[in-house]
This record gives sequence, structure tokens and C-alpha cells, in this order.
Amino acid sequence: MAPRALITGITGQDGSFLAEFLLAKGYEVHGIVRRVALEDPEHRLGRLSQIRPRLVLHAASLESYASIHQVVAATIPDECYHLAAQSFVSYSFDDEFSTLQTNINGTHYLLAAIKNLSPRCRFYFAGSSEMFGKVDEVPQNEKTAFHPRSTYGISKVAGFELTRNYRETYGTHATSGILFNHESPRRGFEFVTRKITSGLARIAAGKSRELRLGNLDAKRDWGHAAEYVQAMWRMLQLDEPEDFVIATGQTHSVREFVQLAADHIGLDWEKYVVIDPALYRPSEVNILVGDAAKAARVLGWRPSATFSDIVLEMIRHDCRAVGLPDSASQPQLV
Ligand code: NAP
Ligand code: GDD
Repeated sequence: MAPRALITGITGQDGSFLAEFLLAKGYEVHGIVRRVALEDPEHRLGRLSQIRPRLVLHAASLESYASIHQVVAATIPDECYHLAAQSFVSYSFDDEFSTLQTNINGTHYLLAAIKNLSPRCRFYFAGSSEMFGKVDEVPQNEKTAFHPRSTYGISKVAGFELTRNYRETYGTHATSGILFNHESPRRGFEFVTRKITSGLARIAAGKSRELRLGNLDAKRDWGHAAEYVQAMWRMLQLDEPEDFVIATGQTHSVREFVQLAADHIGLDWEKYVVIDPALYRPSEVNILVGDAAKAARVLGWRPSATFSDIVLEMIRHDCRAVGLPDSASQPQLV
């Protein structure tokens, strides 16, 4: 019988890549979506449009234990990938309470439902490099102390600890991936990489006159989302659950990202980028760079897309989206 996977956050960037990956492996793939997504599939299920007929989608809310319980009872999954979250760090400064409620309670509800209804199910929690926050060592690995700088980061530390606690207390096969930033042309438009590539493409097409950004000096370890979801799956294939850092080991500034994307389309970005102090965060994570040596050793996972591959794939995609001719010949990753 085909193994059955349940994915929360299946409509997001990672959820859509993971669903495709698991379908290709022969899984029966179920996803939890918000009820509104089923009412407005054209807009809310856009990333799943190619695979929608092969998925089983269930309406449920991360805020409701009863609804999570019902979906887990109806599916009894072999593997559960918990990706749903309020994932935008900036928004967590605007509404701390809902970020904590959704991200912590949602994780707890799912773990509890799995323990009670499907105890053999293997559980993946989407941890984040934001948990490291104000880092005390570079690069960061599985032993680096957490010092989150936002309620988003705090919610992920809480989810990580809940996952560890279910593993140790109830014997749940529960794993956290500590994933560093990963991008693709499916990235949400509010995240800085997609904001840059979509914004510069619009400027090049004459559809926009400026791009407003915040801190250009922040540095991130950017990988490709399609490769990172494969690491999630590899983690759940281990006999014994363990936590893993997933990263490229390279870090680049937001400024470098803008420069490379603009160079590709021959745009003098300094004429168009406006630094907006309102886009600075009240507390920033200045540098992130991960050490994924454990993932390489235990999972055999290694990233292959480079920073420049990712920037070029995204800018080319967004140029095509606004009708600009495709000037480069780099291979598409997606
Ligand atoms: P994303 O594109 O923002 O997707 C988030 C998903 O969560 C969407 O499917 C969204 O559904 C769902 N969601 C949000 N709030 C919800 C709620 N209240 N109830 C039900 N569903 C809800 O995020 P992503 O980039 O794919 O990331 C996936 C996970 O990995 C997240 O937990 C994120 O925090 C974590 N993470 C991401 C990165 C990264 O660089 N991408 C790095 C580390 C960790 P709607 O479509 O209905 O909004
Ligand atoms: N979003 C955004 N918009 N960020 C900006 C802007 C802007 O206009 N200008 C500068 N930045 C800087 C932010 O201050 C931050 O330092 C950096 O760009 C990256 O911001 P985001 O792309 O929003 O991502 P993030 O690093 O905060 O969070 C992402 O990665 C985490 C893993 O480290 C998200 O995917 C999280 O869900 C994920 O956990």
C-alpha cells in the first residue's frame, strides 16, 4: 500500500514542493488547508494547480484542536509534515499574540492528535534559523544556543521544544529540521528575495518607479526550497528521530542579492531602491550561516543550487511574468 503523508501548510512554498516530491515517490498525499482555500481555489491553491487532482485536501484550522483531531482521525498518516505557520517574521512584530497562538498551539494540537490517534506516525516540525537569532557562534549547528529576536523565533523555539518533548516523553518519532532561508520563484511576495525580484522586474517593465526596502546589510544563508524539502523527507526515513540543520554554509547580504538581480537585467538599482526606515525591524537578526555537516553525514543531503543560481532563476521568472523577454540561458530549477 502507498505510504500516506499529511502536510500542513501545503498551499505554501515548501508545501507545494514537498507535495510534488512525495507524489513522485508514490505517496498518497493529504493536505490541511483553510476552509477559504477550498472556496477560492484559483487564488489560494495557485501553487498546487498542477497537482491538485492528485491531492486529498481537508479543511481545518490550526487554531482548532477539534478540526485537527478530525483530520488526523480521518487520515491516520504514516508521515506528517507540519509546515503551516504564520511564517513572516516582520508580521510577528505587528501581531505578536496571533503569531504565538497559531504557531505554538497549532504545533501542540497536531502533536497531541498524532500521539492519541496515529502513534506510529512520523512527525516533522518546520524549525527555523530564526531560533538562533542573535547568534553567539558562526556558523550555527545543532548545538548552537537559541536566542530568538522575534515572537516568530520564540514560537519556533517553543515548537522545537514541544517536538523534542513528545519524542522523549511519549516516544513519538518526532523530528525538527532547523532550516535556513530557502527561496524559489514560488516564494511569497512579502519576503525580501521575491520582493526584490518582482519589484526590479516591474521597474524594468515600466510598471513601477521604485522599490522600497529596509536593512540591506542583513546577511542570510539562502538555499533552494526544492532541495530543502527533500531533506525533510530524508529526516523522516531514519529509524531514530534526530534534529538537523539544513543550510548551504554560504551567507550573502540583501544588498548583494539586489545587486546580482539588477545586474542580470542591466538596471542601475541605486536609482530605484529607496531605503525606508519603516521597513527596519525593531530587532534584527544580522547574520545567519548554517553548518549542515550532520545532514551531509547522516542523511547524505547536500545543497547544489548556488546563491547566483537562485537569484537568476527568480529574476528570470519574474521578468517573464511581466512580459519581458528572457535574456539569459541559465537552466531552470523549477
Ligand atoms: P509560506 O509559503 O508562508 O506558507 C505557510 C503555510 O502555512 C501556507 O500554506 C499557509 O496557508 C499556512 N498557514 C499559515 N497560517 C495558517 C493558519 N492559521 N492555519 C492554517 N494554515 C496556515 O511558508 P514556507 O516558506 O513554505 O515555509 C514553510 C514552513 O517552514 C513555515 O512553518 C516556516 O515558518 C518554516 N520555515 C521556512 C523557511 C523559509 O526560508 N522558507 C525557513 C525556515 C523555516 P495559506 O496559504 O492559507 O495562508
Ligand atoms: N521582508 C523584507 N522586506 N525583508 C527585508 C526588507 C524588506 O523590504 N528589507 C530588508 N529586509 C531584510 C530583513 O530585515 C531580514 O534581515 C532579511 O531581509 C530577510 O527577510 P525575509 O526575507 O522577510 O526573511 P527572514 O529571514 O526574516 O525569514 C525567513 O527565513 C526564516 C529562516 O531564517 C522566513 O521564511 C521565515 O519563515 C524563516 O523561518
